[in-house]
Amino acid sequence: MKKTKSKSRVSTGITGVDSMIDGGLPHGSVVGLSGPAGVGKSIFAMHFLLEGAKNGEKCVYICLEEPRENIDRNLSNLKFGSQILEFEKKGKIKILNFSYNDYEKIHKDLFHKIAEDNKVTRLVVDSFNGFFTYTTGVASSESTEQNILLRKMISNSFDLFRKQGLTTLLTLENDTEFPNYFNHIVSFMVDGEINLDFLSFGSIERRIFVKKMRWTKQYDSSLPFEIGKNGISVKKEE
Ligand SMILES: Nc1ncnc2c1ncn2[C@@H]1O[C@H](COP(=O)(O)OP(=O)(O)O)[C@@H](O)[C@H]1O
Ligand SMILES: [Mg+2]
Repeated sequence: MKKTKSKSRVSTGITGVDSMIDGGLPHGSVVGLSGPAGVGKSIFAMHFLLEGAKNGEKCVYICLEEPRENIDRNLSNLKFGSQILEFEKKGKIKILNFSYNDYEKIHKDLFHKIAEDNKVTRLVVDSFNGFFTYTTGVASSESTEQNILLRKMISNSFDLFRKQGLTTLLTLENDTEFPNYFNHIVSFMVDGEINLDFLSFGSIERRIFVKKMRWTKQYDSSLPFEIGKNGISVKKEE
């Protein structure tokens, strides 16, 4: 199959995902990772950070809401969790976790602080909703003024990420039963969106689907995936 490699690719660290998107995320792109609670977004993010660190890249993980103990507990569930902590000690992975109280003090120039360190190549914001809901209040389709403000803020932060050459993964909390207007706006603005979801066939199955990926010949149907000690593995459909 002929590939459309107009941009160099950044491996997600998950082989089965990379092969759905021409080998990885487009370098310098801003990609949303959407899905409901517990589907595997944060674990996906960990693969992405670890892959960067293994390549000698410097990676930043901004985590909102989760206290550090929870991050550590989640990492201890994964075989590669200890590698992430090793890379953190070496300064290759920076884990910045904020409670809303801390966050209030620094949110204004947080993105700029990251951008100042031009050695950083990978950024994860987990979750991007949390970040903006706090800053602007909840977006609703009724308030035009607020939506314009929100779009401007999102657009400014994306410009900053792109200017820095960061490849950025933003987790987006969503639930098909309760569509969320913020995610709706973000879907149009990101360069790509990977969706993780649960499907129920009597038993629950997880599925991954690439909704959008600029500069990429994307895989056009969903695939099942599993989570285990080694994190996420995408299964090939028979
Ligand atoms: N070692 C493991 N084996 C099997 N499943 C696991 C393991 N570690 C985590 N999980 C699954 O991953 C889920 C959490 O994934 P996470 O990435 O935190 O979700 P999200 O960030 O989308 O809310 C847990 O609910 C659990 O089902
Ligand atoms: Mg999470």
